[in-house]
Amino acid sequence: MKTPPIFTPRNQEDMADRPLQTEPNIKMDTIEKIVSLCKRRGFIFQGSEIYGGLANTWDYGPLGAELKRNIKDAWWRANIYQRQDIVGLDSAILMHPKVWEASGHLQNFADLSVDCKKCKKRWRQDQIRGKCPECGSNELTEARLFNLMFKTFQGPVEDNASLAYLRPETAQGIFVNFLNVVDVSRKKLPFGIAQVGKSFRNEITPGNFTFRTREFEQMEIEYFVRPEDADKSYEYWVNERYNWYLGLGMKKENLRLRPHAKDELAHYAKACSDIEYNFPFGWSELEGIANRGDFDLAQHSKFSGKELVFFDAAAKEKIVPYIIEPSGGVDRAALAFLVDAYYEEKVKDETRAVLRLSKELAPIKAAVLPLLKNRPEIVQMARAIYESLRSQFYCVYDDTAAIGKLYRRQDEIGTLFCLTVDVQSLEDKQVTVRDRDTMKQERISIERLKDYFTKELF
Ligand code: GAP
Repeated sequence: MKTPPIFTPRNQEDMADRPLQTEPNIKMDTIEKIVSLCKRRGFIFQGSEIYGGLANTWDYGPLGAELKRNIKDAWWRANIYQRQDIVGLDSAILMHPKVWEASGHLQNFADLSVDCKKCKKRWRQDQIRGKCPECGSNELTEARLFNLMFKTFQGPVEDNASLAYLRPETAQGIFVNFLNVVDVSRKKLPFGIAQVGKSFRNEITPGNFTFRTREFEQMEIEYFVRPEDADKSYEYWVNERYNWYLGLGMKKENLRLRPHAKDELAHYAKACSDIEYNFPFGWSELEGIANRGDFDLAQHSKFSGKELVFFDAAAKEKIVPYIIEPSGGVDRAALAFLVDAYYEEKVKDETRAVLRLSKELAPIKAAVLPLLKNRPEIVQMARAIYESLRSQFYCVYDDTAAIGKLYRRQDEIGTLFCLTVDVQSLEDKQVTVRDRDTMKQERISIERLKDYFTKELF
């Protein structure tokens, strides 16, 4: 199979989450640079590359895995450790088929698709203008509903009785565990359940690098509130989630909120707002915050026969809580943070590419670099510093090039600090610490390094 192109005129347009969303000045060269950096430095590789690639699948390399992990950790910290009203969950990807009947996914989780009669390509109807974007033909089939859930079979027999689906959202795992969690956590309304995990959608037109794929990770909170508090809680969560991105260094001018029009709402939603990011291919959804009303608990009560209610012991009343759902994508967040942090600047007639990722998200916090690798005492000292720091945070040792090149390499992957050990260090037991963003250098005594980084990084 030929490696599929990442950006074609076709999927530039597919990209928009909303139909025909366009930006007058598409800065596609930025995304091309990000794609190249991701591959070159080991953030993101084409999936199954040695076999020619499997279209629209991506594998996160050593730095990408670290970045994603840092994003998920920051999310978990903000929503679980730093609050008292949300608990975590890690539910199964495969769920009882009835879940998808109750949730409405079997019936409603579908896009209208059309096929080009000439080149046989399939498209989402709302993303093309009556013409095949591949070959230009206007001979298209009637629009048909195409369900986006991936089907599989549980067990050795492939018949209808063993049909199962890969979850298209992590949310349903939370709803079906509502009673379990209420029982064990003794939370009172309002409270939330959060989880991070893989979801799968057989998207008709995936595209634009990791923005829309068929396998992706979500970070979802289902926040249960009294119905009369739902509107206020919805507003609260829209702001809370918007501020989370800002707090991790995302630029305000690249973020905006977009409330959904009534006719755009998903079948379960009473209200929804997207947090959109100004991607190089236009403003597109990063996260959605929805007021799901009592739809989910009511549906699962009906289909399972279990009463999914919250019992308010003080008032002796049963409540079917409303649900406010902030739902974000890990892969989209990673892409947005990468784009947002990417800078090119002139330094002494050379172009320096630098990723200004925040200290929470930067994959590598510090790199220890010996200035002269042919001086064993310097190498030994640099190695000893590296050994002492790596129990505290993620750092690397690198002596594979000249110092200028090592700095450029670390800048390009967002490493916050470079520590250089030189001849002088042998005498004064100090190293040069260089700041990624300002490129300022200061001499710090080796003894003080741990304290210095505790202050700078935590
Ligand atoms: N439980 C609600 C829900 O799943 P959604 O708006 O369909 O809502 C939430 O998805 C988030 O998941 C999106 O904002 C996006 O970040 C991410 N997401 C959805 N589909 C995706 C895809 N095909 N590829 C990558 N991320 C996706």
